[in-house]
Amino acid sequence: MAGEKLGVKNSSSIVPCFLFVELVIMAGTVLLAYYFEYTDTFPVHVQGFFCYDRTFSKPYPGPEHHSMVPPMLVYSLITAIPTLTILIGELMAFFMKAEGTQEKTIVAADCCFFNPLLRRIVRFLGVYSFGIFTTTIFANAGQVVTGNQTPHFLSTCRPNYTALGCQSAMHYITERRACTGNPLLVVSARKSFPSKDAALSVYSAVYTVMYVTLVFRTKGTRLAKPTLCLALLSLAVLVGVVRVAEYRNHWADVLAGYFTGAATAVFLVTCVVNNFQWAQPAPVPVRAQRPDSVLGMPMTALPCVESPLEKLSGPQTPGSPFTEIT
Ligand SMILES: *[C@@H]1O[C@H](CO)[C@@H](O)[C@H](O)[C@H]1NC(C)=O
Repeated sequence: MAGEKLGVKNSSSIVPCFLFVELVIMAGTVLLAYYFEYTDTFPVHVQGFFCYDRTFSKPYPGPEHHSMVPPMLVYSLITAIPTLTILIGELMAFFMKAEGTQEKTIVAADCCFFNPLLRRIVRFLGVYSFGIFTTTIFANAGQVVTGNQTPHFLSTCRPNYTALGCQSAMHYITERRACTGNPLLVVSARKSFPSKDAALSVYSAVYTVMYVTLVFRTKGTRLAKPTLCLALLSLAVLVGVVRVAEYRNHWADVLAGYFTGAATAVFLVTCVVNNFQWAQPAPVPVRAQRPDSVLGMPMTALPCVESPLEKLSGPQTPGSPFTEIT
């Protein structure tokens, strides 16, 4: 009994600590993504180029928002689709799982924050948005560090070949002030590897696909889930294809973006949210189940006991159904 009390005491001090640490990490990630994205805190590496280099001589395709897949569309889709999917999936899973068990009474007795449904939604969406910012940081960091040029680089750079002495195509230009074009366009034409749009869309698609595959239960139809998953994945792949087709990125950039996004999603799903499973904590159910087995009420699935958060209400959990039922 003394050990139990000690555990409760510890967890009550751990919970605010966890929340605080997670908020700090999240805020730091968002800030870093912001600095990469909207400021020039991290200047892009200035890479040289060969005169008349054909790989960088494609025509300028216009600003990003004139693309067939403008950034705004990508950002809204990668926000809306996973959010909706997770909301629908959690509601369905919760109400199917809750049927025939006594979970609801326990959940209702707890504070709303400890509601397992809400906690799962917050956790999955929180980890998802964390991954969005991490992927953005990875892509931006790669672009800034490598400074690889886009296929339309020379069209925006517009180097004065006579002034630079470009008699042969083998002449390599390292001069920083070689470009005469719009400086903003030149800077963005130096950010190509890896493709951020490809990384974000594949990250979003893989996270959603893994969620759908691992959580959704579609009894009776075998092809519904794969169809949805393949549709999402091909949409994400299409974003990269359009980037290449519009001369905004090379294939290597897009493939590296795919890899970055997919790796981030797989890591977060397998290692951080444990494949979206309902966690089964070792010590708590023993305590929580005893009064139920005494009453002959099977209460094997207890989604509300799965983290240090739950130990707060641990001692009351066996008591409250007991009093309610008798
Ligand atoms: C390119 O440089 C040469 C020599 O410096 C100069 O005469 C010419 O006007 C420049 N051309 C442009 C388009 O700036």
